[in-house]
Amino acid sequence: LSVIRDLTEQDLKDLGVLLGHRRRILRAIAELDGVARAPTETATEPALRDEPERRHLTVMICDLVGSTALSVRLDPEDMGAVIDAYHAACARITRTYDGFLAEFRGDGILAYFGYPIAHEDDAERTVRAGLDIIAAVARLETRAAEPLAVRIGIATGLVVIGDLSREGALREHAVVGETPNLAARLQALAEPGTIAVAASTRRLLGDLFRLRDLGRHEVKGIAEPVAAWAVEGVSDSESRFEAVRTADLTDLIGREDELDFLLERQRPAWKGEGQIVLISGEPGIGKSRLAAALAERIAGEPHTRLRYQCSPYHTNSALRPFIAQLERAAGFKADDTSAQRLDKLEAVLAMGASQVQAVAPLFAALLAIPFGERYPTLSLSPTQHRRRTLAALLDQFEGLARRQPILLSFEDAQWADATSLELLDLTVERVRQLPVLALFTFRPEFEPPWAGLPNVGTLTLGRLDRNDVENMVARVTGGRVLPAEVMKQIVAKTDGNPLFVEELTKAVLEAGILVENHHGYRLDAPLPPLAIPETLQDSLMARLDRRAPVREIAQIGAAIGREFSYS
Ligand SMILES: Nc1ncnc2c1ncn2[C@@H]1O[C@H](COP(=O)(O)OP(=O)(O)OP(=O)(O)O)[C@@H](O)[C@H]1O
Ligand SMILES: [Mg+2]
Repeated sequence: LSVIRDLTEQDLKDLGVLLGHRRRILRAIAELDGVARAPTETATEPALRDEPERRHLTVMICDLVGSTALSVRLDPEDMGAVIDAYHAACARITRTYDGFLAEFRGDGILAYFGYPIAHEDDAERTVRAGLDIIAAVARLETRAAEPLAVRIGIATGLVVIGDLSREGALREHAVVGETPNLAARLQALAEPGTIAVAASTRRLLGDLFRLRDLGRHEVKGIAEPVAAWAVEGVSDSESRFEAVRTADLTDLIGREDELDFLLERQRPAWKGEGQIVLISGEPGIGKSRLAAALAERIAGEPHTRLRYQCSPYHTNSALRPFIAQLERAAGFKADDTSAQRLDKLEAVLAMGASQVQAVAPLFAALLAIPFGERYPTLSLSPTQHRRRTLAALLDQFEGLARRQPILLSFEDAQWADATSLELLDLTVERVRQLPVLALFTFRPEFEPPWAGLPNVGTLTLGRLDRNDVENMVARVTGGRVLPAEVMKQIVAKTDGNPLFVEELTKAVLEAGILVENHHGYRLDAPLPPLAIPETLQDSLMARLDRRAPVREIAQIGAAIGREFSYS
């Protein structure tokens, strides 16, 4: 029993104990000790707060299909076991994506993403969690004849957390607002085994997922018909940047020096002295945009473009960016047979390797394609296998570089898995004698081990200056002039971050506070303090949650204005 005293909230969470039960256990532990314990705070979870709080959340509601019918067919123990397994799967998956499982309601669950910790991609996390839950539930074993299925509804919006009219743990986490209601209505619209998302969520998803328009529907409790989309799967775009941001690319603004720096590196690179450039900077500062600008600039010159994209969801999945690149290059289709995949794989390998048959089994194993008798079985120890795979990837790369120069981009290295980083290490060595220009982008939290090597350059992107910001605003407005007062606020609020400039300007245009006249816009009414646009909410909250004390200041700041004395 003595270990019980040492259990923390996080331990209980890791054990899968639900919030309500956690609270009860912690209270019991406190009573054992005869003292009230302060709530534990961990690095990953700020203490849950007592005050009601306005948050921008994505809400997921998930319901087991046909559970009433199922409960008639199964005896109560079996039914209980099914529900337990279903709950456990939902809890595990929600946790994986850092969501918050607020409630089990019979055969339904309610989860929030963006609370108590916000992430810049909470909407994406929610949809990924939903897809995983659908897959996990379909795999659950029951005595029922058909596999189980769920329906999922997802909506995003501003909500108030902490409904004071409810009791205990539920009170703290109850969410008030239209969003949960909308998610529930969408859940009812979804086909079994699918997800329906609201327009508010859809906006945040860009092209990350394949979506099907479900049209508009009248739903209870909401005056206007609501638009809904069914999620059909993850789209296989080449880069996160393009999936989220290509909708309306403005011309590159500023960054001339940086672009020149890259072009200067290109010269020796193309002559066979491979160059690496490390591009770092905060989210939205324009790393991907700069890499895209270079690619555009040299599009007319013969070269091979290789693109690798890391993902926050696969930080532990070995070589994932390289696998995804090969799959795209090979052009696999969902219904390809293994033999067709192997044919396509061999065609890709033939571009770089001289002895395709010798390396094909390594690549087939990497891409998890069964090859049966087609190649000899590899009898290698795991260590040998790993070493040979990395060597084969490098040789393939070198083979390609011998044909024509390569422009390589490796995006978001802060999310790279350890094996990919090891391969990058080897690549940095190998490119010295090859016509390769490699751009590695990453956020400031990543510390690249290659800085300072002779063929490695560094670019740290800072804020745009005022002039560039104003130019950017003008691109977004299509050259129309904004009232000086509005421009001033945009410049002040966005601190030279291009992502914020784009989004805030779009939000101002959409807010309906401006009237168009012949050369621009004028204000219709006194300027309201600019609201933070929804697409930025999550990334701003993510920054603030990482620095909890700052958050309180920001909340106070939001109430009293941008400038206030710190005393
Ligand atoms: N110099 C620029 N000129 C015009 N638009 C820009 C510029 N820099 C960035 N943008 C725009 O700002 C947005 C954010 O840029 P980008 O996605 O490149 O940021 P990032 O640094 O790659 O962020 P992340 O760390 O999230 O990957 C994009 O829509 C991009 O087109
Ligand atoms: Mg980027």
